[in-house]
Amino acid sequence: KGKAIAVVGSLNMDLVISMQRMPKIGETIQGDAIHYISGGKGANQAVGCAKLGAEVTMIGAIGNDAFGSEIMQRMKLFGVKTEAIATLEGVPTGTATIMHTENDNCIVIVPGANGECSPEETIAPYAEIIRNADALIVQLEIPMPAVEAALRIAHEAGVPTILNPAPALPLTDEQIALADYFTPNETEFEMYCGGTIDVDSEEQLFERMTAWNARFPGQKLIVTRGKHGISYADSGSIATFAAPVVQVVDTTGAGDSFNAALCFGVANGWPLDKTLPLAVRAASYSVTVFGAQDGMPTMDKLL
Ligand code: RIB
Ligand code: NA
Repeated sequence: KGKAIAVVGSLNMDLVISMQRMPKIGETIQGDAIHYISGGKGANQAVGCAKLGAEVTMIGAIGNDAFGSEIMQRMKLFGVKTEAIATLEGVPTGTATIMHTENDNCIVIVPGANGECSPEETIAPYAEIIRNADALIVQLEIPMPAVEAALRIAHEAGVPTILNPAPALPLTDEQIALADYFTPNETEFEMYCGGTIDVDSEEQLFERMTAWNARFPGQKLIVTRGKHGISYADSGSIATFAAPVVQVVDTTGAGDSFNAALCFGVANGWPLDKTLPLAVRAASYSVTVFGAQDGMPTMDKLL
């Protein structure tokens, strides 16, 4: 039986529209294709953990509509437990409309049901699931009070917590300190540091990471760096794990794939020098396949 993981976060239907170029303001253009793909950072990470072999319970909300039931079906297909996903009346399921060309991406997220998640309705009824988990992972696509409530329950129960601060929204130091693992990408980390890092300069990045460790003692900081892999800082010492060179098909969900594999390793009590390279490989694998959840690897793909 796999380790128990609780994922608290968003479920979205991704409307992925491919086009030759972005429309200008006020312009109408013709797109090449539209794909409806189950996504949302929470759901993607839940699927990622389940595909690796964990017993995953997803905590979140969808609307009572066609996108919601499609998402539910997909979660079940991947073996994610769905009993803690509320179906809400009167709000739509969250959507992410992703316009993409060969070189660019523009995304509009409408939170819908995700935006209704609250400590009382969404988290409190499932506190036992969080307390009994081997790890909790959260992101920032649902309201902060719900995220914080989940982190607090886990923290007080001694359950390891991973906070993937995506999208980058303001957090208090107290909220950040509830995370045992903090996993921004470079852009997000820059924002949390006050928006002043030259990310092209490793030296500056590492300085900031060391400073972060001093500000949040005991927390492990992992900055994901796209094709450069990840850098990890703990108590002021830094290690970088490079990513293998792969043929990129779709980067949507690469971060989710990394975070899911990290969470899987943490839940299993693996050392980070085993987990981090594996999680980097998971992310690299995921970008070679179209779609966020379809690209997430099973363990046999990573060994
Ligand atoms: O991290 C990727 C996800 O972010 C997509 O699936 C989309 O739903 C957006 O929320
Ligand atoms: Na992918």
